[in-house]
Formats: sequence, structure tokens, C-alpha cells
Amino acid sequence: MKIVKRTVLSCLLSATVMGSSSVAFAETLLERGTYLMRGIVACGSCHTPPAGPFKGKELAGGFVFDEEPFTTYAANITPDRETGIGAWSDEEIIRAIREGIRPGGGRVIGPPMPIGMYRSLSDRDARAIVAYLRTVPPVRHEVPEAVYRIPLPPRYGPPLGEVPDVPRSDKVAYGEYLARIGHCIECHTPMDRGRRDFSRTGAGGQVFEGPWGVSVAANLTPDSETGLGAWSDAEIKRAISEGISHDGRKLNPPMPFGYFRNISEEDLDALVAYLRSLKPVHNRVQ
Ligand code: HEC
Ligand code: HEC
Repeated sequence: MKIVKRTVLSCLLSATVMGSSSVAFAETLLERGTYLMRGIVACGSCHTPPAGPFKGKELAGGFVFDEEPFTTYAANITPDRETGIGAWSDEEIIRAIREGIRPGGGRVIGPPMPIGMYRSLSDRDARAIVAYLRTVPPVRHEVPEAVYRIPLPPRYGPPLGEVPDVPRSDKVAYGEYLARIGHCIECHTPMDRGRRDFSRTGAGGQVFEGPWGVSVAANLTPDSETGLGAWSDAEIKRAISEGISHDGRKLNPPMPFGYFRNISEEDLDALVAYLRSLKPVHNRVQ
């Protein structure tokens, strides 16, 4: 009798433990938003000023992208009501991120913000990002107006309807999703006459200049001579999360390694599965 009771009790206990671990797995919106923002999505790699009087103030904006054909400043996306986005509704923020449309209308949000990639952001992940944005300390910081010396498109595509989550069980599809919201594809796809050449997705070649000198986006396709074809999974994951290449060389910015080190093992595996699924392109970039 006693033994039976004990068995029942231990079953109950283990059920409680299992219950709590499945609760931990079903993360809250804010937990998901924190994971994305401090990891793969890395909005702060553009929106948190790396220098100047607002240095390190999270998402306070002002970093200048001065390149042809634009001079633009990362916006202040802290909850300050006057100089940030504190007065915007959740829907307005989500529309700005995924469609480049601001609440007041006017011109769309321009490059280098990767709106074309963010169109893929699922409704849940977009809401998770907003939940995180609401928790950042507000910073009063007026950021200058941008100058675009090219016409911007009137919009980035038709209005978005519902954007469902991509199932994690489909590793390649989920990896592609991550490569879009982490804008790996934006940096690593070659440009052809001012447009990304998606017939060679991931083939590299874009040039980035900065205080570190010049770096050229690597060829991530499975070509065995000029891409990642001969790399092990562990080597690819180390390059993404630690910024160390195949041959031990430390990789240069602007790839945001400080954020990417927080990408989970499961997500790194999905990224690798996606990169291995790309069409191999022979393109020597170094
Ligand atoms: C590669 C750099 C880059 C990344 C990454 C980036 N942004 Fe931006 N963002 C910008 C720039 C530059 C502007 C200003 C563009 C303009 O003037 O049209 C901007 C504008 C915005 C605006 C408009 C704010 C306003 O007051 O008009 C919002 C909102 C925004 N970004 C949110 C985000 C969020 C959220 C993320 C991550 C999901 C993100 N951005 C990622 C560069 C970036
Ligand atoms: C802002 C642009 C940018 C973003 C975003 C970016 N990368 Fe990179 N990446 C680069 C550049 C530039 C290099 C080359 C750096 C160097 O050679 O020092 C690079 C290098 C790499 C390498 C090393 C390849 C080699 O041959 O050494 C891998 C792997 C890689 N990126 C994968 C990714 C993945 C996966 C993502 C998204 C999770 C990503 N990158 C996001 C710009 C970017």
C-alpha cells in the first residue's frame, strides 16, 4: 500500500518536473524577443551607437552610414516618446520593421535597413521583438534626417497578411528563415547593377569598408573550392558564433559576432543545414 503511494507520488513529482520544463520551452514573448535581439536579429548592430556621446546606449541610434548613394543615420528606436518610437503602437512598429512604412506615412525606411529580409519575420517573432523594444531604457536623442541620392521604392511589396512561424522541425526552411532575419543573405549575396543577384544567393563578394579596413563577404555556398563545401559543421558554426575562419584567422566586421555568439546550438545547426542546401557557386572572393 505504502509502496504504491510512493510510486504515485514519484510519478506526480516527475510529472511536475516535466511540466515545468515544457513551460520553460514554451518561452514568453519577451524571452523570445530578448533571444532574437541579443542574438541572430541584432538590430543593435546598427541601432546602438558604437561611439560618440551616446556610445553603448542601447538602440539610441545616430550611427551614420555614409556611402554612395546615401547618407543615413540609424534611427533612435528606444521608447522615448518624442525622439524615439515610444508613441508608436505595436502594429505601427511591426509595419515599420516588416514593410518600411512609418506611422506618419511619407517615404519608406531606406537602406541599409534590410526591410526586404524582415518581410519574412513571423507575426509571433515580430511581436516578440516589440515586447523587447518596450523594455529598453528611453533615450532622448534627435537623429538627423537621411539623404538618399536614389529614388526609394514607394513600398517593398504588397501589404503583408498573416506571417506564420516556420516550423523548426523543417531544419532547412527554419535555417533559411534565420538567414533572412539575421540578414546573412543581405550581406552575403552578390550585387549586380545595384540589385541583389538571388540567382547566386550566398555567393559573397560585397565589399565593406570601415575602421577595420576592407572586408569582403565570404562565399557561403557549398562550392568546395571557393565556398564552404569542404568545411565541417563545427567549423561553420565557429565562424558564425566566434568569428574564427576555417584556417584560424579572426574575421573582421561588419558581421556582428558579439551578437551571433548568443545564437543557440539548435539555430546554428539549422543555419548550417540551410547553407548546405544552397546552389554551389564558384566565386573566389578573397
Ligand atoms: C543594417 C543596419 C540596420 C539594421 C540591421 C536595422 N536597422 Fe532599423 N534603420 C536603419 C537605418 C539606417 C534607419 C533609418 C533609415 C531612413 O532614414 O529611412 C532605420 C530605421 C528604423 C526605424 C524607423 C524609425 C523612425 O523613427 O523612423 C525603425 C522602427 C527601425 N529601424 C527598427 C529596426 C529594428 C527593430 C531592427 C531589427 C529587427 C532594425 N531596425 C535593424 C538601419 C538598420
Ligand atoms: C553586415 C554584413 C554581414 C552579416 C549580417 C553576416 N555576414 Fe558573414 N561575413 C561578412 C563578411 C564581410 C565576412 C568576411 C570577413 C573577413 O573575411 O574578415 C563574413 C564571413 C562569414 C563567414 C566566414 C567565411 C570564411 O570564408 O571565412 C561565415 C561562415 C559567415 N560569414 C556566415 C554568416 C551567417 C550564417 C550570417 C547570418 C547568421 C552572416 N554571415 C551574417 C558579412 C556579414
